Amino acid sequence: EDKYATLVLFGATGDLAKRKLFPALYSLYCDGYLPERFAVVGLGRRSLTQEDFYHHIKDSLEAFSRYDIRPEDWEGFIQRFHYVQLDINQASDYEALASYVEKLEQRQEINGNRLFYLAIAPGLFEPVTFQLKEAGLLQTKGWKRLIIEKPFGHSHESAEELNDKITQVFKEEEIYRIDHYLGKEMIQNIQVIRFANSFFEPLWNNQYIASIQLTSSETVGVENRGSYYDKVGALRDMVQNHMLQMVTMMAMEPPSRLKAEAIRDEKVKVLRSIRRMETEQEIQEHVVRGQYEAGELQGEGVKGYREEQNVAEDSSTETFVAAKIMVDNFRWAGVPFYIRTGKRLPSKATEIIIQFKSMPYLYFNKDGNLAPNLLVIQIFPEEGIHLKFNAKKPGTEGSILPISMDFCHDSTVGINSPEAYERLLNDVLEGDSTYFTRWDEVSLAWKIVDPIIQSWEKSEGIPLSTYKAGQWGPTEAKELLEKDGFHWWQVF
Ligand code: BG6
Repeated sequence: EDKYATLVLFGATGDLAKRKLFPALYSLYCDGYLPERFAVVGLGRRSLTQEDFYHHIKDSLEAFSRYDIRPEDWEGFIQRFHYVQLDINQASDYEALASYVEKLEQRQEINGNRLFYLAIAPGLFEPVTFQLKEAGLLQTKGWKRLIIEKPFGHSHESAEELNDKITQVFKEEEIYRIDHYLGKEMIQNIQVIRFANSFFEPLWNNQYIASIQLTSSETVGVENRGSYYDKVGALRDMVQNHMLQMVTMMAMEPPSRLKAEAIRDEKVKVLRSIRRMETEQEIQEHVVRGQYEAGELQGEGVKGYREEQNVAEDSSTETFVAAKIMVDNFRWAGVPFYIRTGKRLPSKATEIIIQFKSMPYLYFNKDGNLAPNLLVIQIFPEEGIHLKFNAKKPGTEGSILPISMDFCHDSTVGINSPEAYERLLNDVLEGDSTYFTRWDEVSLAWKIVDPIIQSWEKSEGIPLSTYKAGQWGPTEAKELLEKDGFHWWQVF
């Protein structure tokens, strides 16, 4: 019963709802996770009939759902949806919404639990929360929770301002800040790989690990998001949140308990231990920024970033970032974490590669050409774990062959694993905030990236490198590792 709830969805006709939220709700429904009493009030500024709204949802499922629409599921699912037109700045619309929700709760015997999802432009987060309060929507017998999408602020200062405002209305434990990477199967699996395997955890430190690489590459350009992206860039769009979150999952200490606060306490300690880069010289040495030029990708010519729609002709926004991150604590001192992310790269992949140190003495391949052991955690496109190690090439003497031990969800477990948003929505209904970012995480992450952004903005000293669409970023990204005797692994 504690899961019975009304989901008040701002941005119901928007892109996120269409691509992710409706399909996620549908999967949860088909898998039996949606509570028996559960209603969705979709809000949008357009005037839509219920029928229009149903069509909109059906289109979304047809295009993006991992389940087919079966008539028997569809009926039960769609009757939970209600569309209400709302002008975000109009107080009287919120009052009307409040009475609509109350009536709906009475009719459907929902005990007042309310989930507010802000799938709207970030500039609206603050006014909407205040309007909700003013209109009395937060005075409810049940629980109230707020789901907020990224970006959470544009800098540390603006994030703090936003947080100060929102926490006047919702308590920290009622706020669920989405970082959808934390909802991904294999990112959640990092904890299990680390803490349920006695042969990994003892090696998980600077005694045995030489370096860790984290890549999140995309083939798409900025698509139709030029006006957003050009103000943001890859550092804010991907590094401040997803990439640093992956680093914390890899580097955290075992938590005291497997509970949200204990886990997030450990992640915060990692963020505190990350070495801050303050001077221009440090930043130039450790961070590479790049922007794509016209090039060829998967056999097709694509335009350069500056030719994209809604992007300034002389834009200096980065579409690629590579960085060397040092975690200054006992476990990780001396182990570089190399991250890279970018648009218009040769393939779409998200993976983490742990490179182990070489053997203290080489019996084989004395020329030093013995491949290091690698543990690869593949998050996308496959979900899997691969262990690369050396064995004797059968039928030869002393010939060494790197081989791979592979575990792949798609082929091994045979299930189509749920998408990030499915897990995250279910977690919110259950009141579990483990895989959402707490304010102190967001704040520390901004403190790490802010000086880099500022330094880029003010200095001519730090070049914006370019790369041709379809290449793995600028050559400086290669050099970043080569300086330390490493290279980016292309294991697939
Ligand atoms: C989003 C960014 O947070 O993550 C996008 O705003 C990016 O620019 C996306 O494309 C990548 O997510 P995924 O799950 O496709 O790796």
